[in-house]
Amino acid sequence: MKNDLQQILLSEEKISKRIAELGVEIDKHYEGKEILIVTLLDGAIVFTADLIRNLSIPLRLDCMRVSSYGDSTDPETAPRILSSLKSEVSGKHVLLVDDILDTGNTMKRVEKEVLSKKPASVHSCVFLDKPDRRQNDFRSDWTGFSIPDEFVVGYGLDYAGRYRQLPYVATLRPSVYETS
Ligand code: PRP
Repeated sequence: MKNDLQQILLSEEKISKRIAELGVEIDKHYEGKEILIVTLLDGAIVFTADLIRNLSIPLRLDCMRVSSYGDSTDPETAPRILSSLKSEVSGKHVLLVDDILDTGNTMKRVEKEVLSKKPASVHSCVFLDKPDRRQNDFRSDWTGFSIPDEFVVGYGLDYAGRYRQLPYVATLRPSVYETS
């Protein structure tokens, strides 16, 4: 697997330092409140697991599955919600958590779905942001790292379902995706 990688973009140390900072900021923002974290499967699992262990505020966790990419690197234009939330959202402070903000179509769709359930507030926290790729006006409230428009894997991010378990973020050798 490591032979498929080109360059480590974000090391384990850099990631854990940044997530600790995000934890402090998010704790401060929600001080005195309980939040409902809505994590978007599958990619956000790793980031969410580390983020919640850096939060001190009371929180509950729920998951949503949204289809946008499949095995292709091109997003579809209208992400579909495949499984919705089991939690009561009305009156709750919702924090959407995802691994990467790319076109913004997924977050925009999820935000609309959550807003329709009348929460007290909706904010978002993404591990990575590729601002150059945005197709709408969505902006995340907290961002781990802004990165250029390069295809990256690891720390939850996949290529064709693989590489999610890498503890760092790396670029793939073009030969990996050019031949598949
Ligand atoms: C990825 C990622 C985000 C979404 C971002 O999901 O996890 O949810 O794409 O893209 P967008 O901003 O262009 O909408 P993907 O469909 O690849 O599923 P995964 O989470 O299972 O990897």
